[in-house]
Amino acid sequence: EKSGYKHFMAKEIAEQPTVLGEAVDHYISKDGKGVSFAAEGLDFTQFDRITMVACGTAFYACLTAKYWFEQLARLPVEVDIASEFRYREPPVAPRTLAIFVSQSGETADTLAALRYMEGKAAKILSVVNVPESSIARESDVALPILAGIEVGVASTKAFTCQLNVLALLALNAAHARGEISDAALGDHLAALRNLPGLMNHALGASDTIEALSRELAKAQDILFLGRGAMYPIALEGALKLKEISYIHAEGYASGELKHGPIALIDENVPVIVMAPRDALFDKTVSNMQEVMARGGKVLLITDAEGAKQAGDDVWRSVILPEIPDLLAPILYAIPAQLLAYHTAVAKGTDVDQPRNLAKSVTVE
Ligand code: M6R
Repeated sequence: EKSGYKHFMAKEIAEQPTVLGEAVDHYISKDGKGVSFAAEGLDFTQFDRITMVACGTAFYACLTAKYWFEQLARLPVEVDIASEFRYREPPVAPRTLAIFVSQSGETADTLAALRYMEGKAAKILSVVNVPESSIARESDVALPILAGIEVGVASTKAFTCQLNVLALLALNAAHARGEISDAALGDHLAALRNLPGLMNHALGASDTIEALSRELAKAQDILFLGRGAMYPIALEGALKLKEISYIHAEGYASGELKHGPIALIDENVPVIVMAPRDALFDKTVSNMQEVMARGGKVLLITDAEGAKQAGDDVWRSVILPEIPDLLAPILYAIPAQLLAYHTAVAKGTDVDQPRNLAKSVTVE
């Protein structure tokens, strides 16, 4: 079943270009120029705001999508963890689209949050991997992420396939609300169709990452930094690493570093900087220099030009292909997953069945 891979997680990481490519083709129109959810009854001109609720990795997919919905479609988005949302009993404005993201579709807190929204939100949409799950069945609209069965407890391909569906929804919303032109939509969709090829390139960094992960495995604490839509990817990288390697890791927004976490930096704390060459690149580089000035060991994940601009003082670099800003979070998820995987393998932990964790959290 592992098709020659040592772990399900390795197989599921490697499958991403294929499953994501198939999912892109499933959702984009035959001519490649449009994306519509009209058949599912979703019309983004009917909503004034979005509330997204999920747990764990699915929550980080929602945090990423907030940047997309707000920047592309100019729709305000609130994102919350299901276990907080449900007990907070927040007021719900009319014309709210509620989106619940869950790989399993059975997460107890997410399901309870969905039930809280029944009769309050204008529409309940779920983004799930299991179409016959409780969350899918209880939604007005359920969109499958089409990742295929995910066995490893650490979510990998489900995350990138969740991001794919959320990016398509944000593009559809932006187009329907007149925020982007037909041509701009076409360009974004062409980039999305190109993404599986770039993901294959990113997977090619596996050997480099394996070698440096043997060093990361000696660390007690590791920080991940990112700005903009890369901030949730920093959070996801930290979650993935702690979940399977049991190394303490935290993700921070790069700009937040100097408000506390920089006190942690010394030569024993590797700092992983997720820095595609987007509009915020220069700011991230200056945060990185603050880390290096305090003796921190920086692992920079960027493209070839980004590595050149960052200079020679970084401890290690992982080079990814250039990528349009919108899709950077999906591509940069791959090295984050590979870092967690190879570090866990180097430590000899149980990658597919980490201690104390279950694939589906059906208790509160
Ligand atoms: O099935 P769900 O997507 O609702 O699960 C949510 C979380 O339990 C899940 O993403 C968890 O954080 C993963 N083990 C992370 O790798």
